[in-house]
Amino acid sequence: MNLLLLGRGKTGSLVAEVAAERKHEIRIAGAKENVSCAALTTERLRDIDCVIDFTAPHCVLANIEACVTAGKSMVVGTTGWYSEIDRIRALVEQHDTGFVYSPNFSVGVHLFFDVACAAAAALRHDYSGQIFERHHVHKKDAPSGTAIAIQKVIRDASRRGSNQYDDLEITSFREGDVVGMHEVVLESPADRIYLCHDAKSRRGFAEGAVRAAEWLAGKKGFYDFKDVWREL
Ligand SMILES: NC(=O)c1ccc[n+]([C@@H]2O[C@H](COP(=O)([O-])OP(=O)(O)OC[C@H]3O[C@@H](n4cnc5c(N)ncnc54)[C@H](OP(=O)(O)O)[C@@H]3O)[C@@H](O)[C@H]2O)c1
Repeated sequence: MNLLLLGRGKTGSLVAEVAAERKHEIRIAGAKENVSCAALTTERLRDIDCVIDFTAPHCVLANIEACVTAGKSMVVGTTGWYSEIDRIRALVEQHDTGFVYSPNFSVGVHLFFDVACAAAAALRHDYSGQIFERHHVHKKDAPSGTAIAIQKVIRDASRRGSNQYDDLEITSFREGDVVGMHEVVLESPADRIYLCHDAKSRRGFAEGAVRAAEWLAGKKGFYDFKDVWREL
């Protein structure tokens, strides 16, 4: 495929690596080349099959609007624009393009959500639970979006069996250069169950994003990666 990557930061640079390994043609535009969406004119996008965005909240909406309006498919990993999600969905439908987004493109993390969902049954059998998350010291938000998503997965699974339910407490740690570790601990008077996802690098995000672009080829519509990753 001919891919245009927006952003050559921590995640974007890995997307470029993975795309090259998977034999795609990749062009990259960072902040300098894309001032006021200069890299996203109809002319510049002419031979591009899909645009992958790992930039920043301040520019992602303008990038999305430029690409979708030009009729281009997109994979968007950048976060911070979801308050506009309904408007963007309508724009994608209006221009009949393809779009996959997610705050987390790691297939391993989505597998972990399924495992946590299955483990939620423990809460109906005298277990109590806690969530722990560890990230590098530079991470600005706490708790992490992934920890909140795990909490929601367990809440939704538990409520199916009962209407009495308190959310699992999340404890956040910020230490060293930890990429991202999430643990669910379920404890009963008789035993303890540990579930752990430990990201070794950002590569999982990059692989998921490139594979989502491959999946999107020839498709139209607005998709959340959580509904797509099983088909990769
Ligand atoms: N969905 C997921 O799985 C996932 C995973 C990780 C991160 N993220 C999200 O992805 C985004 C990027 O994360 P990151 O850790 O890679 O951040 P980062 O290292 O700060 O990289 C962001 C890059 O965006 C580029 N940029 C800024 N404005 C731009 C513009 N107008 N056009 C093109 N490029 C522009 C800059 O490129 P230059 O260096 O060229 O100036 C910068 O290096 C964040 O929103 C983060 O939350 C999502």
